[in-house]
Amino acid sequence: MTLPLFLDREALRTLNRLLPRLEINLAERIETDAEGWKTISIRLQRHFPLLFRLYYSLYSSRYDFFFHLEDLLTSLACAWFQRPADLRALDQAREENPLWFQSNQVLGGVCYVDLFAGNLEGLRSKVPYFQELGLTYLHLMPFFKRPEGENDGGYAVSSYREVHPPLGTMDQLALLARDLRAAGISLVADLVFNHTSDEHIWALRARAGEPDFQEMYYIFPDRTMPDAYERHLREIFPEEHPGAFTPLLEENHITAFSPLPKGEGLGEVPQSGMRVKWVWTTFHDYQWDLNYVNPAVFNRMAEEMLFLANQGVEILRLDAVAFIWKQLGTNCENLPGAHTLIQAFNAVRRIAAPALLFKSEAIVHPDEVVKYISPQECQLSYNPLLMALLWNSLATRKVRLLTQALATRFKLDPATAWVNYVRCHDDIGWTFSNEDAARLGVNGNDHRSFLNEFYRGRFPGTFARGLPFQENLKTGDCRISGTCASLAGLEKALNEEGPQEVELAIRRIALIHAIIMTVGGIPLIYLGDEIGMLNDYSYRDHPQHKRDSRWAHRPPADWDAYTRRDDPVTVEGRVFQRLKDLISLRKEHPVFAGGEMEIIPTENVHVLGYARLHNGDRAAVFANFSESEQPVSAKVIEQNNLAGKSRLFGGSDISANGELLLKPLEFVVFG
Ligand code: GLC
Ligand code: GLC
Repeated sequence: MTLPLFLDREALRTLNRLLPRLEINLAERIETDAEGWKTISIRLQRHFPLLFRLYYSLYSSRYDFFFHLEDLLTSLACAWFQRPADLRALDQAREENPLWFQSNQVLGGVCYVDLFAGNLEGLRSKVPYFQELGLTYLHLMPFFKRPEGENDGGYAVSSYREVHPPLGTMDQLALLARDLRAAGISLVADLVFNHTSDEHIWALRARAGEPDFQEMYYIFPDRTMPDAYERHLREIFPEEHPGAFTPLLEENHITAFSPLPKGEGLGEVPQSGMRVKWVWTTFHDYQWDLNYVNPAVFNRMAEEMLFLANQGVEILRLDAVAFIWKQLGTNCENLPGAHTLIQAFNAVRRIAAPALLFKSEAIVHPDEVVKYISPQECQLSYNPLLMALLWNSLATRKVRLLTQALATRFKLDPATAWVNYVRCHDDIGWTFSNEDAARLGVNGNDHRSFLNEFYRGRFPGTFARGLPFQENLKTGDCRISGTCASLAGLEKALNEEGPQEVELAIRRIALIHAIIMTVGGIPLIYLGDEIGMLNDYSYRDHPQHKRDSRWAHRPPADWDAYTRRDDPVTVEGRVFQRLKDLISLRKEHPVFAGGEMEIIPTENVHVLGYARLHNGDRAAVFANFSESEQPVSAKVIEQNNLAGKSRLFGGSDISANGELLLKPLEFVVFG
C-alpha cells in the first residue's frame, strides 16, 4: 500500500492483463459480434483508466480487488453484447451530440403508470397526449416488481428486471421505450440503488442466513453498531420507525451447540432457530440499504443499471443519492464516497451504454445538491431549491430569497442542466440554506415553521390546502404534501371563495410554471398539474397509504377532467391553456435553450426579474408574485434596453412614462 502508484499506467497494464482473459471467456460472443467487440474495446481504452481510478479508490483495500474488477469488466462486456442495434445507434448519436438535453424543445413530464393509464399498454395509448402537450422526456415512476403490501409507491424494488405484474412486462416496457423514442420522447426511469425491498432475492437469501447475501446489506448481530451509527443520523421517516435500523429475524440460524447426551461419545449438535439481528433501513423497515463497501454490490447494481439501459431507458433518476455511502461517526449523508460511487457508475455507462444520462435526486442542503452535478457524475439534477423558493415567494409575495438563490446558486457547468419542477410525487422540504436566509435577516428555522403553517392552511389568510408530512415532534421538523393546485389556492377558492380567488389561484399555478419553462434547464411537469388536479383525500381510507400524506398528491388521472382541457370556460381548460401557452413560448424561442441566466434587479421586492441569454439572443423576464399591480421603474426598463423590444409573453406594455406596470401575478417576457 505504500508504493507510489501511477494509476493511469497501472490501469492500462491491468486492462492488458484482463482483455486476453475476457477474449477467452467471451470468445463465442466476440466471434458473432466482432464489430461490437471492436467498439467496446475502443471505449475501454478510452474510459477504463477513469473507471479503474474510481474503483481503486473505493475497493483497493480488498484482498479480492482484482477478482471483482475482472467480474465487473465481464459484466460490462456482456451487457454491451446484449445492447440492441437501435440503442447502439443512439449511443453514437448521443456521443456526437452530448448536449441534446439543452435544447429549448426539451420538456419533461412524470407520472405513475397505474395511476395515469392503468398499465403499460394503457400508457402506450397516451403517447398522442404526451405529444399534444409537447413532452420530449417522460419519467415513469417505479414500475418494478414490489411487495404487494406497503411498497413506498414502488420505491421498494423486489426485482430490477421485472415489471410489477399488474402493470405489464419488461418486454412491454422495451416496446414502449421504442414507441416513445419514435415520438421524440426519451424514457426516464428510476434506479433505486440505495436499497432493495425486503422481498428482493438478495434480501430473501440474506434473511435465510447466506453470508454472501448478508454482506450485501448492513446487517449487525446486536445493537452495538446501530447505536453507534445512530448517534449521528437524522431520522428520515420518523413517523414510520425511529432511528435507521430494523430488527431482522434471521431464519435457520445456528444459535448454539449443545453437547451430545451422555454416553453417546464426545461432540456437539448444532441447534438452529431464529435470531434477531439489525438491518439498516434508512427509509421504511421494508427497504434494506445496500452495502456498497462490498464491491459485489457495485458490480451487481451495474448489471441492473445496464439491463435497464438496454430496455431503452435513456435517463436514470438516481434515487436518494445522498445516502448511498456510510461511515461511522458521520451523518452518513453526502459523503465523498457517494460521489466516487456515482462517478464510477458514470464511467460504467460511458463504456457500455453511453447514451444513458443520470439525474440526481438529492433533496438536501443546496451546498450538497450541486456537488452531484457534473458531466462525470450526474449530468442532470432536480432543483429542489428553486422549487421550494417558488412556493416561498407565493406565500410571502416577495422574491428576495428566490433572487438570491438564482443569483448565487443557479449557475452550472454548461454540460449539465437543472431539472426544474414545481411539484413531484414527494413532499416539499424547505431546503434553503440558513446562512443565505440569515444574510437577508431571516431566521431559517422560524421561517420554515411559518411556511409549514402557511401551506398546512393554518396561517391566517393562507390560500393553501396542504398537509403535514413526517412531522417530527422531537425536532419540530415537518414537510408539506399537496398538489400544485391545492397548494396554490385552487381548492380553497373553489370550495370556499369565488371566481376572483379562482382566477388568482390559476395565475399562481401559471406563474410558477412560467418560471420553470424559462429560467434555464429542463422543465418537468408533474402530470395532472397541467389540468389543476386537487388533493385526493381518499388515501386516508386506504390501509397502506393512510399514514403517508404524499398520497394526497398522487390521485388517479381523471380522464373526464382531461376531456375538459380544451374548453376555455372550465377550470381544467383555463389551467391547461395557460400552461400550453407557456410551453409554446419556450419552444418557439431558442433563447430559452441552455442555462445561461442573469438576474435583473427590479427594485421591487414583489417582482422577480431575469435575463436569458443564448447564442447572442437575450430575453428579459418579469414575474409579479403579489396579488396587486406592481411597477418596474423606467430606470430598470431603460437599463435593460427594453423600450424597443417586442413582448414575447404577457399582457402589459411599457407605458408612455417608460414604466412597466405588471398585473397581479403577471408574467411578462421581452426579447
Ligand atoms: C426517494 C423517493 C421517495 C422515496 C425515497 C425512498 O426520495 O423520491 O418517494 O420514499 O426515495 O426510496
Ligand atoms: C428524504 C430524501 C428525499 C425524499 C424524501 C421522501 O428526505 O432525502 O430525497 O424526497 O425523503 O419524502
